Amino acid sequence: MKVMTVFGTRPEAIKMAPLVKALKKDPYFETIVCVTAQHREMLDQVLDLFNIKPDYDLNVMKKGQTLSMITSDVIEGLDKVLNEAKPDIVLVHGDTTTSFAAALSAFYHQIPVGHVEAGLRTFDKYSPYPEEMNRQMTGRLSDIHFSPTIRNKENLLRENVAEEKIYITGNTVIDALLEVANTKYDFDGELGSVLSSGKKLISVTCHRRENLGEYMANIFQALADIAKEYKDVEIVYPVHLNPLVRDAADKYLGGLDNVHLIEPLTYQPFTKLLQASYLVVTDSGGIQEEAPALGKPVLVVRKETERPEAVEAGTVKLSGVERKNIYNDIKDLLDNKQSYDKMANAVNPYGDGKASERILKALKEFSIGK
Ligand code: UD1
Ligand code: UDP
Repeated sequence: MKVMTVFGTRPEAIKMAPLVKALKKDPYFETIVCVTAQHREMLDQVLDLFNIKPDYDLNVMKKGQTLSMITSDVIEGLDKVLNEAKPDIVLVHGDTTTSFAAALSAFYHQIPVGHVEAGLRTFDKYSPYPEEMNRQMTGRLSDIHFSPTIRNKENLLRENVAEEKIYITGNTVIDALLEVANTKYDFDGELGSVLSSGKKLISVTCHRRENLGEYMANIFQALADIAKEYKDVEIVYPVHLNPLVRDAADKYLGGLDNVHLIEPLTYQPFTKLLQASYLVVTDSGGIQEEAPALGKPVLVVRKETERPEAVEAGTVKLSGVERKNIYNDIKDLLDNKQSYDKMANAVNPYGDGKASERILKALKEFSIGK
């Protein structure tokens, strides 16, 4: 079975890497990797770490790229690649514009689509934006769906996806996390001193398009309030390479002694940073899955989440996008041991590290059933 995986951003690469590795190991599959490079540097960091050498690289990233630019460049680029490679199935991941455009392109070529991380929903068109519609549209275009959880499967059933096309696999992010989490990594420089200071560490990531502007200002101001009030707390924020995010981070958080704005970390040290953290403040999707597995409380700075499983398990709290609420939630976790202990439980609703294995098994069934 000729399987082409298509991905382009950091999170897709992290979550597709274990699957690519598993596909390559199994002689049943011929594996072709096509990257769109919607992200350049942040994608390459992951490709290097997992030692993946793409067969095709569309190299679409541009500074200040719009959603239309990414969509049209990916569709146009994939035309040539799909004509040449003629895969039996194209696998895409999650909810990025790369995923949606690649699924659409495969459909234009009448090639079946497999959706990894299928069925996550907020049912709010603009939150997260454009990811909610990207994943809904990718779902419509897909012939086989790999859902991390039962709830994700139920979302798809409600959209009349045939039950036999949905497989509950767990999330491949746990496969990736387990691969790197137990490796050794020594920090040096600024981060090395922060981590060995013994102070409480708050890790932060923030990049979502719908948070750009007023909400991001609120989030950063809340963090600045905390940094000024708590001199015994260190805040570490590996800042996304999006220039709009970097400008806002510099504006509100630059120049504070105990706030460390650093470059994006490769995946291995980033997981070590999570492990060393007291708590995590983030608008990321993947980190809502990783931090609970590591027993770290997560405050999600978004209006909604498509990952309610960890909220229900108690380790993730939806903190919203208002300065006061975020400030209060961080303060409560810093000051109130009971609140902290209630959230700091290692729970893992997202899988057991065997998601890739299950996806391979499902792909074999799919290929025989055709
Ligand atoms: C995209 C995804 C989002 C995902 C996020 C992960 C869409 C619509 N959005 O965010 O779902 O959560 O990636 O990080 O698909 N840049 C670089 N180098 C890089 C990466 C980015 O310079 O390696 C800069 C470029 O100037 C680029 C900008 O960041 O134009 C924004 O990148 P983009 O992929 O468009 O970001 P988002 O859409 O916000
Ligand atoms: N991550 C990383 N280095 C960093 C920040 C995040 O490797 O400096 C990882 C993180 O562990 C998670 C993924 O990147 O697996 C999340 O990516 P991002 O927040 O960019 O996207 P999202 O998950 O929101 O789509």
